[in-house]
Amino acid sequence: MAEKTLDALFHDTLKDIYYAERKILKSLPKMARAAQAPELKAAFEKHKGQTEGQIERLQQVFEIIGKSARGKTCDAIEGILAEGDEIMEEYKDSPALDAGLLAAAQAVEHYEITRYGTLKRWANVLGLADAAALLDETLQEESQTDVDLTSIADAAVNAEALKPAP
Ligand SMILES: [Fe+2]
Ligand SMILES: [Fe+2]
Repeated sequence: MAEKTLDALFHDTLKDIYYAERKILKSLPKMARAAQAPELKAAFEKHKGQTEGQIERLQQVFEIIGKSARGKTCDAIEGILAEGDEIMEEYKDSPALDAGLLAAAQAVEHYEITRYGTLKRWANVLGLADAAALLDETLQEESQTDVDLTSIADAAVNAEALKPAP
């Protein structure tokens, strides 16, 4: 078996998050439609726009390492998004729907944060400063999204979830 180095691992992980981002892009409009609180709907819509930009940044990183932009099935994001779908079905028309959606979205953000945090560090170690800067920009967006979702949870959604079903 050929010896695999950090640049191979970097490329593989890039493919993983590229796959994940494109899945997330498809899932966000569904989540925005399902969300009841206008703040949560707006947050999902805003993040959809950001995700488009994040995909473009990843394409730039592929270019920097001289590889074509291609994804590789990411079981982790499949699982996290499947749980989100389950919540949308099981909590449809329930006061706890938004709390569930928000929690599912935060699981997605945390997955992205761990991936981008790692990729950014590896890019630096590999001497890919431009790639590291691109990955850091996305890392900041994902972290801010997570903070914003926490604010929405605290401000509106979690209290709403306690109310009895109509
Ligand atoms: Fe993302
Ligand atoms: Fe995200």
